[in-house]
Amino acid sequence: MNFDLDKITRDNIKRLVPYSSARAEYKGKEGIFLDANENSLGLIKGSNYNRYPDPMQLDLKEKLGKIKGLPIGNIFVGNGSDEAIDILFRAFCEPGKDNVIICPPTYGMYEVSANINDAIVNRVNLIPETFQLDLQNILKAIDEKTKLIFICCPNNPTGNGVKWSDIKTILENFSGLVVLDEAYINFASYRSLIPELLNYPNLVILQTLSKAWALAGLRVGLAFASQQIIDVFNKVKPPYNMNAVSQQLAISALDNIDEINSQIRTIVNERKYLTEALAAFSFVKKVYPSEANFILVKVNDAEALYNYLAQKQIIVRNRSKDELCDNCLRITVGTPEENKTLLKFLNEYGK
Ligand SMILES: Cc1ncc(COP(=O)(O)O)c(C=O)c1O
Repeated sequence: MNFDLDKITRDNIKRLVPYSSARAEYKGKEGIFLDANENSLGLIKGSNYNRYPDPMQLDLKEKLGKIKGLPIGNIFVGNGSDEAIDILFRAFCEPGKDNVIICPPTYGMYEVSANINDAIVNRVNLIPETFQLDLQNILKAIDEKTKLIFICCPNNPTGNGVKWSDIKTILENFSGLVVLDEAYINFASYRSLIPELLNYPNLVILQTLSKAWALAGLRVGLAFASQQIIDVFNKVKPPYNMNAVSQQLAISALDNIDEINSQIRTIVNERKYLTEALAAFSFVKKVYPSEANFILVKVNDAEALYNYLAQKQIIVRNRSKDELCDNCLRITVGTPEENKTLLKFLNEYGK
């Protein structure tokens, strides 16, 4: 593999002079700030919300860096992982010319973001039933215009992990970026591939505080990569891409690692309980093993079951239209009480 970041970066991005914000130009915290056209009188007492937030989210990155074992320079913080996905297209894919590879069924935003940015999408379906990567066809699909390959592990909506040996083969045979989405990694029985960033300069890892960290409403997405790749992200991102409230709340939430680990254990236990209970229903054809906080279930009539549950005010996702997911519902693991309620209604449905 011959990875050259310069070669895969769009020319306009290489030439780009990024916007220089007031807070980026003067980094001191004390003083009379007359540089950013803010309202210095302020409105919300005791807050700093009349001021622009830290454009580089340094305090948040420092805390994240300690948890993830990474220097700040290897971390990008975005307005949800969706912002990181969008930046990848904008920085690396020449509209109408470059292509990316996605492996359906998978997280829908890769394709939507590709379409928004007019990148060509090559779809190489996962292998039916095992939902592993179709390595041969992925390698065949790569051409000189392929810039990104998205791998979601654990995968949404199937819930399974993807073999490390397959990811490794792709990393070693592709000179574009391999984007490994680890949104659900905290629920998995295996570890993040963050340590592999040292071995593979073409690896970008996405994570989020929306899942295990229980902060979906704050919109905090993360990308980890080499400093050079993160520099490209920072060049392209809007100057103040993460608001002050999200930064502050995320910083204090990250102190609760013991509580979150205990919640992860609860969710993983509930996943096991639900997996076994779901498998016992006659209308359930298959419960796919999950490494995430949701379970994909094949049933005899997904639409009928979806409608029945919705009527009971239990909202799941009907994934039947996704490739290889005919008659499949995706059910998020809820609280122990919510899961009991779900099973109670399913019992009544089965009768
Ligand atoms: C695989 C995967 N990646 C990313 C996201 C989006 O994460 P965020 O909330 O950080 O935008 C989701 C959300 O469902 C997801 O399933």
